[in-house]
Amino acid sequence: MKNDIELATKFSHMGRPPAGLGTAVSHPVTRASTLLFEKAEDLYRNDIRGYGRHGTVVHDALAELFTELEGGVGTLLYPSGVAALTGPILSVVKPGDHILLTDSAYGPTRYFCQTFLKHMGVETTLFAPDIGADIADLIKETTSLILLESPGSLTFEIHDIPAIVKAAKARDVTTLIDNTWSAGISLSPLQMGVDISVHAATKYFGGHSDVMYGAAVFANQSHLKKARNTAKQLGNASSPDDAYQILRGFRSVIPRFRQQEATALALAEWLMTKREVQQVLHPAVKDHPDHALWKRDFTGGGCLFSVVLQPLSEDDVLKFIDRLQLFGIGYSYGGFESLAIHCDPQLRRHCANDLPGPLVRFACGLESMSDLKLDIEQALAAVF
Ligand SMILES: Cc1ncc(COP(=O)(O)O)c(C=O)c1O
Repeated sequence: MKNDIELATKFSHMGRPPAGLGTAVSHPVTRASTLLFEKAEDLYRNDIRGYGRHGTVVHDALAELFTELEGGVGTLLYPSGVAALTGPILSVVKPGDHILLTDSAYGPTRYFCQTFLKHMGVETTLFAPDIGADIADLIKETTSLILLESPGSLTFEIHDIPAIVKAAKARDVTTLIDNTWSAGISLSPLQMGVDISVHAATKYFGGHSDVMYGAAVFANQSHLKKARNTAKQLGNASSPDDAYQILRGFRSVIPRFRQQEATALALAEWLMTKREVQQVLHPAVKDHPDHALWKRDFTGGGCLFSVVLQPLSEDDVLKFIDRLQLFGIGYSYGGFESLAIHCDPQLRRHCANDLPGPLVRFACGLESMSDLKLDIEQALAAVF
């Protein structure tokens, strides 16, 4: 089990240059496409960086921190969270394969599987997020990959990860999880046997809503090697400036995460008591259907959750969102500022396709919890 204090210490001290006479605390950003060599014989060496696309010392430091966070064998960095999902997926699948995807997946992941992979000759079967050990029944001879996300996007279902991993390992199927919600701070999927853990680092690690980034952390060398090769062929390089911003965010991610997590949980528990709210979709809330699984596998929550409001007209749902003053209207989460969106997961087949009212997702930032509460209170009063 992870220890916040140990991690916070490591994130303060790892990935820094050695102290000298007046050296900066952090590595400088080096912008480069061409790297120069003194001798022609060094141009084709495999043991040194040869070109800008191969990263910089800042990229190396950032990858080292992600590997430490997840307890993996290595990390690959990508220019966005989506690229950190699609790159490793492409390194595992080939035409003729079959993959299993949770029905609660982030929309663009689903779209990628159902369009790009389909055109490539890869078949996708959606599974219910609560499938557990029964996933064994969906594994075919051609199944190469199971794509997990826990909690699920928008509706926050929790998987029984150990049961799914056990079924996958029995049939030599790779597992990949989108671990963005937990930041790898409140869930350690590689320690539960998952092969690849992916982060949209755009969220908590960026922390300031001004940089796109992604990371995939690998539990074993064979997946890492294949994904590195794919990333190389796809030209998946990321800017050193962006890598620097994410490394900077890493230094303070634990206290920010813990404050945002506490705010989200307090708001979720308060919203449970409101007559205007039918359901609170947050796995750390006691009457959530997957609360027991969450308690078993997670050490905390995230900053993001949803509520199902009492029935409202479409206009009133928009009015509710518009009336919020402290929650910006925008996608994403993990930044210092709170956000809210109305959303509709109805295209799903195995979960959340019969919600009894409008769904609103809140991302909690670093504002005071009581101010956020007052803000929601006044917006609810405007429509109910
Ligand atoms: C769960 C999840 N995974 C992946 C992504 C994609 O990350 P990015 O926006 O950095 O491409 C997001 C973005 O919202 C997300 O919420």
